[in-house]
Amino acid sequence: MFTVLTHQPCEQAGLKALYRTPAIITLVLLLVSVVILVSVTLIQIHKQEVLSPGLKYGIVLDAGSSRTTVYVYQWPAEKENNTGVVSQTFKCSVKGSGISSYGNNPQEAPKAFEDCMGKVKGQVPAHLHGSTRIYLGATAGMRLLRLQNETAAKEVLASIQSYFKAQPFDFRGAQIISGQEEGVYGWITANYLMGNFLEKNLWHMWVHPHGVETTGALDLGGASTQISFVAGEKVGLNTSDIVQVSLYGYMYTLYTHSFQCYGRNEAEKRFLAMLFQ
Ligand SMILES: *[C@@H]1O[C@H](CO)[C@@H](O)[C@H](O)[C@H]1NC(C)=O
Ligand SMILES: *[C@@H]1O[C@H](CO)[C@@H](O)[C@H](O)[C@H]1NC(C)=O
Ligand SMILES: *[C@@H]1O[C@H](CO)[C@@H](O)[C@H](O)[C@H]1NC(C)=O
Repeated sequence: MFTVLTHQPCEQAGLKALYRTPAIITLVLLLVSVVILVSVTLIQIHKQEVLSPGLKYGIVLDAGSSRTTVYVYQWPAEKENNTGVVSQTFKCSVKGSGISSYGNNPQEAPKAFEDCMGKVKGQVPAHLHGSTRIYLGATAGMRLLRLQNETAAKEVLASIQSYFKAQPFDFRGAQIISGQEEGVYGWITANYLMGNFLEKNLWHMWVHPHGVETTGALDLGGASTQISFVAGEKVGLNTSDIVQVSLYGYMYTLYTHSFQCYGRNEAEKRFLAMLFQ
Protein backbone atom coordinates (compact mmCIF):
# COMPACT_ATOMS: atom_id res chain seq x y z
CA MET A 1 0.00 0.00 0.00
CA PHE A 2 1.15 3.53 -0.69
CA THR A 3 0.35 6.82 0.92
CA VAL A 4 0.55 10.01 -1.07
CA LEU A 5 1.80 13.08 0.71
CA THR A 6 1.00 16.44 -0.82
CA HIS A 7 2.36 19.65 0.54
CA GLN A 8 -0.65 21.65 -0.49
CA PRO A 9 -3.96 21.03 -2.23
CA CYS A 10 -3.69 21.08 -5.98
CA GLU A 11 -6.43 22.68 -8.01
CA GLN A 12 -4.99 22.26 -11.46
CA ALA A 13 -6.98 19.99 -13.71
CA GLY A 14 -3.91 18.33 -15.12
CA LEU A 15 -3.00 16.97 -11.74
CA LYS A 16 -6.45 15.88 -10.74
CA ALA A 17 -6.16 13.27 -13.42
CA LEU A 18 -2.78 12.26 -12.09
CA TYR A 19 -4.24 11.86 -8.59
CA ARG A 20 -7.12 9.64 -9.60
CA THR A 21 -5.18 7.12 -11.64
CA PRO A 22 -3.66 4.45 -9.41
CA ALA A 23 -6.35 2.70 -7.42
CA ILE A 24 -3.87 1.15 -5.02
CA ILE A 25 -2.84 4.54 -3.78
CA THR A 26 -4.36 5.73 -0.54
CA LEU A 27 -4.69 9.48 -0.63
CA VAL A 28 -3.85 11.18 2.59
CA LEU A 29 -3.92 14.96 2.36
CA LEU A 30 -1.58 15.94 5.09
CA LEU A 31 -1.73 19.16 6.99
CA VAL A 32 1.37 18.05 8.77
CA SER A 33 4.55 18.52 6.85
CA VAL A 34 7.23 16.14 5.92
CA VAL A 35 9.52 17.82 8.34
CA ILE A 36 7.93 16.43 11.48
CA LEU A 37 10.65 13.92 10.90
CA VAL A 38 13.37 16.42 11.00
CA SER A 39 12.38 16.99 14.60
CA VAL A 40 12.13 13.28 15.29
CA THR A 41 15.61 12.91 13.91
CA LEU A 42 16.92 15.88 15.83
CA ILE A 43 15.56 14.43 19.02
CA GLN A 44 17.36 11.20 18.33
CA ILE A 45 20.64 12.91 17.73
CA HIS A 46 20.47 14.68 21.06
CA LYS A 47 19.73 11.68 23.20
CA GLN A 48 22.69 12.36 25.46
CA GLU A 49 20.69 15.15 27.10
CA VAL A 50 19.68 14.66 30.70
CA LEU A 51 16.05 13.70 31.03
CA SER A 52 14.00 16.36 32.72
CA PRO A 53 10.29 16.21 33.44
CA GLY A 54 7.81 18.29 31.47
CA LEU A 55 7.35 19.23 27.85
CA LYS A 56 9.87 20.22 25.27
CA TYR A 57 9.33 22.24 22.12
CA GLY A 58 10.88 22.35 18.70
CA ILE A 59 10.30 24.63 15.71
CA VAL A 60 10.75 23.56 12.11
CA LEU A 61 10.50 25.70 8.98
CA ASP A 62 9.67 23.66 5.92
CA ALA A 63 11.02 25.80 3.09
CA GLY A 64 9.37 24.28 0.05
CA SER A 65 9.62 25.45 -3.53
CA SER A 66 6.27 27.26 -3.47
CA ARG A 67 6.02 28.33 0.19
CA THR A 68 7.50 28.18 3.66
CA THR A 69 5.51 26.75 6.57
CA VAL A 70 6.43 27.07 10.25
CA TYR A 71 5.57 24.18 12.59
CA VAL A 72 5.76 24.01 16.37
CA TYR A 73 6.13 20.55 17.88
CA GLN A 74 5.91 19.41 21.46
CA TRP A 75 6.94 16.19 23.18
CA PRO A 76 7.38 14.79 26.68
CA ALA A 77 11.01 15.06 27.80
CA GLU A 78 11.00 11.32 28.48
CA LYS A 79 11.74 9.39 25.27
CA GLU A 80 10.62 5.97 24.02
CA ASN A 81 13.63 3.85 23.07
CA ASN A 82 15.58 7.04 22.24
CA THR A 83 12.97 8.65 19.97
CA GLY A 84 10.53 11.32 21.12
CA VAL A 85 6.75 11.00 20.81
CA VAL A 86 6.06 14.20 18.93
CA SER A 87 2.87 16.14 18.33
CA GLN A 88 2.31 19.22 16.22
CA THR A 89 0.80 22.10 18.20
CA PHE A 90 0.94 25.03 15.79
CA LYS A 91 1.30 25.76 12.10
CA CYS A 92 1.74 29.06 10.25
CA SER A 93 2.07 29.67 6.51
CA VAL A 94 4.59 32.36 5.63
CA LYS A 95 3.16 34.94 3.21
CA GLY A 96 4.52 35.04 -0.31
CA SER A 97 6.38 32.38 -2.25
CA GLY A 98 9.22 30.03 -1.35
CA ILE A 99 12.67 31.24 -0.26
CA SER A 100 14.16 30.18 -3.60
CA SER A 101 12.31 33.11 -5.23
CA TYR A 102 14.62 35.51 -3.33
CA GLY A 103 17.70 34.67 -5.43
CA ASN A 104 17.90 38.26 -6.69
CA ASN A 105 17.26 39.92 -3.32
CA PRO A 106 18.47 37.51 -0.61
CA GLN A 107 18.31 40.08 2.20
CA GLU A 108 14.52 40.29 1.73
CA ALA A 109 13.99 36.54 2.32
CA PRO A 110 13.58 36.54 6.12
CA LYS A 111 11.26 39.56 6.25
CA ALA A 112 8.29 37.39 5.35
CA PHE A 113 8.97 35.22 8.45
CA GLU A 114 8.30 38.04 10.95
CA ASP A 115 4.56 37.55 11.15
CA CYS A 116 4.72 33.80 11.81
CA MET A 117 7.69 34.12 14.16
CA GLY A 118 5.73 36.62 16.27
CA LYS A 119 2.96 34.04 16.66
CA VAL A 120 5.41 31.23 17.38
CA LYS A 121 6.88 33.22 20.30
CA GLY A 122 3.43 33.15 21.88
CA GLN A 123 3.15 29.38 21.42
CA VAL A 124 6.31 28.44 23.31
CA PRO A 125 6.56 29.42 27.01
CA ALA A 126 8.97 32.36 27.27
CA HIS A 127 11.30 30.62 29.78
CA LEU A 128 11.83 27.81 27.23
CA HIS A 129 12.68 30.05 24.24
CA GLY A 130 16.44 29.77 24.79
CA SER A 131 16.36 25.96 24.94
CA THR A 132 13.90 25.50 22.04
CA ARG A 133 15.62 24.40 18.86
CA ILE A 134 14.70 25.97 15.56
CA TYR A 135 15.67 24.47 12.26
CA LEU A 136 15.03 25.33 8.60
CA GLY A 137 15.10 22.66 5.90
CA ALA A 138 14.87 23.72 2.27
CA THR A 139 13.89 21.29 -0.46
CA ALA A 140 13.78 21.09 -4.26
CA GLY A 141 13.20 24.81 -4.97
CA MET A 142 16.54 25.62 -3.33
CA ARG A 143 18.23 22.58 -4.86
CA LEU A 144 17.27 23.99 -8.26
CA LEU A 145 18.42 27.51 -7.38
CA ARG A 146 21.75 26.04 -6.18
CA LEU A 147 22.15 24.37 -9.58
CA GLN A 148 21.32 27.60 -11.40
CA ASN A 149 23.32 30.00 -9.24
CA GLU A 150 25.17 28.65 -6.24
CA THR A 151 26.12 32.11 -4.98
CA ALA A 152 22.49 33.20 -4.91
CA ALA A 153 21.47 30.06 -2.99
CA LYS A 154 24.26 30.62 -0.44
CA GLU A 155 23.27 34.25 0.01
CA VAL A 156 19.62 33.36 0.64
CA LEU A 157 20.66 30.86 3.34
CA ALA A 158 23.17 33.29 4.87
CA SER A 159 20.55 35.99 5.14
CA ILE A 160 18.15 33.55 6.82
CA GLN A 161 20.90 32.43 9.19
CA SER A 162 21.64 35.94 10.37
CA TYR A 163 17.93 36.53 10.93
CA PHE A 164 17.55 33.44 13.15
CA LYS A 165 20.72 34.17 15.10
CA ALA A 166 18.99 37.33 16.32
CA GLN A 167 15.92 35.37 17.49
CA PRO A 168 15.56 34.13 21.10
CA PHE A 169 15.53 30.44 20.08
CA ASP A 170 18.36 27.90 19.84
CA PHE A 171 19.06 28.11 16.10
CA ARG A 172 20.38 24.80 14.71
CA GLY A 173 20.88 25.74 11.08
CA ALA A 174 19.26 26.50 7.75
CA GLN A 175 20.19 24.01 5.08
CA ILE A 176 19.17 22.42 1.84
CA ILE A 177 18.23 18.82 2.52
CA SER A 178 18.89 16.15 -0.09
CA GLY A 179 16.14 14.48 -2.08
CA GLN A 180 16.96 11.27 -0.25
CA GLU A 181 16.55 12.85 3.19
CA GLU A 182 13.28 14.39 2.03
CA GLY A 183 12.06 10.95 0.92
CA VAL A 184 12.97 9.37 4.26
CA TYR A 185 11.26 12.16 6.22
CA GLY A 186 8.12 11.71 4.10
CA TRP A 187 8.08 7.98 4.82
CA ILE A 188 8.54 8.52 8.54
CA THR A 189 5.78 11.16 8.63
CA ALA A 190 3.26 8.97 6.81
CA ASN A 191 3.95 5.95 9.00
CA TYR A 192 4.13 7.99 12.19
CA LEU A 193 0.70 9.51 11.52
CA MET A 194 -0.74 6.10 10.69
CA GLY A 195 0.48 4.74 14.03
CA ASN A 196 2.79 2.19 12.47
CA PHE A 197 5.63 2.92 14.89
CA LEU A 198 3.82 3.30 18.18
CA GLU A 199 0.53 2.49 19.84
CA LYS A 200 -0.80 2.79 23.38
CA ASN A 201 -1.40 -0.48 25.20
CA LEU A 202 -4.07 -1.16 27.86
CA TRP A 203 -1.85 0.47 30.48
CA HIS A 204 -1.50 3.62 28.37
CA MET A 205 2.13 2.89 27.66
CA TRP A 206 3.68 3.34 24.21
CA VAL A 207 4.56 0.02 22.60
CA HIS A 208 5.56 -1.20 19.18
CA PRO A 209 2.37 -2.32 17.37
CA HIS A 210 2.34 -6.08 16.87
CA GLY A 211 2.31 -7.39 13.30
CA VAL A 212 1.81 -3.96 11.71
CA GLU A 213 3.41 -3.36 8.33
CA THR A 214 4.69 0.00 7.19
CA THR A 215 3.29 1.82 4.17
CA GLY A 216 5.24 3.16 1.22
CA ALA A 217 5.15 6.93 0.67
CA LEU A 218 4.88 9.02 -2.47
CA ASP A 219 5.64 12.62 -1.67
CA LEU A 220 4.48 15.03 -4.36
CA GLY A 221 6.31 18.30 -3.75
CA GLY A 222 6.39 21.47 -5.79
CA ALA A 223 9.60 20.76 -7.70
CA SER A 224 10.37 17.09 -6.94
CA THR A 225 8.67 13.83 -6.09
CA GLN A 226 9.94 11.23 -3.64
CA ILE A 227 9.13 7.56 -3.37
CA SER A 228 10.10 5.55 -0.28
CA PHE A 229 9.27 2.09 1.03
CA VAL A 230 10.76 -0.69 3.14
CA ALA A 231 13.10 -2.49 0.80
CA GLY A 232 12.93 -5.93 2.41
CA GLU A 233 14.67 -8.56 0.28
CA LYS A 234 13.84 -6.95 -3.07
CA VAL A 235 16.70 -7.42 -5.50
CA GLY A 236 17.53 -5.12 -8.37
CA LEU A 237 17.23 -1.92 -6.38
CA ASN A 238 20.08 0.53 -6.76
CA THR A 239 22.09 0.25 -3.53
CA SER A 240 22.78 4.00 -3.53
CA ASP A 241 19.03 4.43 -2.91
CA ILE A 242 19.04 2.25 0.22
CA VAL A 243 19.02 3.99 3.62
CA GLN A 244 18.78 2.66 7.16
CA VAL A 245 16.83 4.49 9.84
CA SER A 246 16.44 3.64 13.49
CA LEU A 247 13.16 4.62 15.16
CA TYR A 248 11.94 3.72 18.66
CA GLY A 249 14.54 0.97 18.89
CA TYR A 250 13.72 -0.64 15.54
CA MET A 251 15.83 -0.59 12.39
CA TYR A 252 14.21 -0.07 8.99
CA THR A 253 15.90 -0.53 5.62
CA LEU A 254 14.34 1.84 3.11
CA TYR A 255 14.50 2.29 -0.60
CA THR A 256 14.11 5.98 -1.35
CA HIS A 257 14.48 7.93 -4.55
CA SER A 258 13.83 11.55 -5.40
CA PHE A 259 12.82 12.62 -8.89
CA GLN A 260 14.02 16.19 -9.30
CA CYS A 261 11.87 18.27 -11.68
CA TYR A 262 8.97 15.84 -11.38
CA GLY A 263 7.06 17.88 -8.80
CA ARG A 264 3.67 19.50 -9.10
CA ASN A 265 4.87 22.80 -10.56
CA GLU A 266 7.05 21.07 -13.12
CA ALA A 267 4.18 18.74 -14.04
CA GLU A 268 1.95 21.77 -14.59
CA LYS A 269 4.57 23.38 -16.80
CA ARG A 270 4.83 20.23 -18.90
CA PHE A 271 1.04 19.92 -19.07
CA LEU A 272 0.68 23.54 -20.26
CA ALA A 273 3.49 23.11 -22.77
CA MET A 274 1.63 20.07 -24.11
CA LEU A 275 -1.63 22.06 -24.42
CA PHE A 276 0.09 24.86 -26.33
CA GLN A 277 1.51 22.38 -28.80
C1 LIG B 1 24.07 34.80 -9.19
O1 LIG B 1 23.56 35.48 -8.07
C2 LIG B 1 24.35 36.58 -7.64
C3 LIG B 1 23.78 37.08 -6.34
O2 LIG B 1 22.38 37.28 -6.40
C4 LIG B 1 24.37 37.64 -8.72
O3 LIG B 1 25.19 38.72 -8.33
C5 LIG B 1 24.92 37.00 -10.00
O4 LIG B 1 24.84 37.93 -11.06
C6 LIG B 1 24.14 35.76 -10.36
N1 LIG B 1 24.78 35.08 -11.47
C7 LIG B 1 24.12 34.67 -12.55
C8 LIG B 1 24.94 33.98 -13.57
O5 LIG B 1 22.91 34.88 -12.70
C1 LIG C 1 11.29 -0.50 22.78
O1 LIG C 1 12.10 -1.61 22.49
C2 LIG C 1 11.65 -2.84 23.07
C3 LIG C 1 12.68 -3.90 22.74
O2 LIG C 1 13.04 -3.85 21.38
C4 LIG C 1 10.26 -3.20 22.54
O3 LIG C 1 9.77 -4.39 23.17
C5 LIG C 1 9.30 -2.06 22.82
O4 LIG C 1 8.05 -2.32 22.23
C6 LIG C 1 9.88 -0.75 22.24
N1 LIG C 1 9.02 0.36 22.60
C7 LIG C 1 8.40 1.08 21.67
C8 LIG C 1 7.60 2.22 22.19
O5 LIG C 1 8.52 0.88 20.47
C1 LIG D 1 22.61 4.07 -9.01
O1 LIG D 1 22.44 5.41 -8.55
C2 LIG D 1 23.60 6.22 -8.77
C3 LIG D 1 23.35 7.57 -8.10
O2 LIG D 1 22.03 8.00 -8.29
C4 LIG D 1 23.84 6.34 -10.27
O3 LIG D 1 25.01 7.10 -10.50
C5 LIG D 1 24.02 4.95 -10.87
O4 LIG D 1 24.14 5.05 -12.26
C6 LIG D 1 22.83 4.06 -10.52
N1 LIG D 1 23.08 2.69 -10.97
C7 LIG D 1 22.16 2.00 -11.66
C8 LIG D 1 22.56 0.59 -11.99
O5 LIG D 1 21.06 2.45 -11.98
